[in-house]
Amino acid sequence: MRQTRLGLSDNARKTSIATLQTALADALSLRLAAKQAHWTVRGPHFQQLHELFDSFVAPLDAEIDEMAERIATLGGAPDGRAEAVAGNSGLQEYPLGATRGVDHLAALADRFAALGNTVREGIDITDEAGDANTADLLTATSRFLDQSLWFIEAHLDVA
Ligand SMILES: [Fe+2]
Repeated sequence: MRQTRLGLSDNARKTSIATLQTALADALSLRLAAKQAHWTVRGPHFQQLHELFDSFVAPLDAEIDEMAERIATLGGAPDGRAEAVAGNSGLQEYPLGATRGVDHLAALADRFAALGNTVREGIDITDEAGDANTADLLTATSRFLDQSLWFIEAHLDVA
């Protein structure tokens, strides 16, 4: 962690960097999963699901950029390499053979929910460490993830 004039304790910066790095790896994995679903979905409602899955990519990219640049702001070194994503993401490997819309919807719903929970925990962890700005950033990310989960679950008719 590099020196900075930023007025946060070393512990707050260290806690936020570690929390953000975990969320960053998961978000990058989820971004790839959304594209995988966009590319491989087949069957009824193809066009609508093909477009739905792609609609998550740009907002995920925006969240990813916010997280990575917050890590840099805090004096850390964001690690967005494929190797880091593979090694650090807690999300399960995306099902390679999935083609049916319901299978992609369920796979993405599981992953949006998992990242949503990780980010929600991160809000409390960074807030308690004294970094309100990172907690705020993660709160915005959490809101996007929750809304996306609603979009996906609405297709699955989950009560
Ligand atoms: Fe495309």
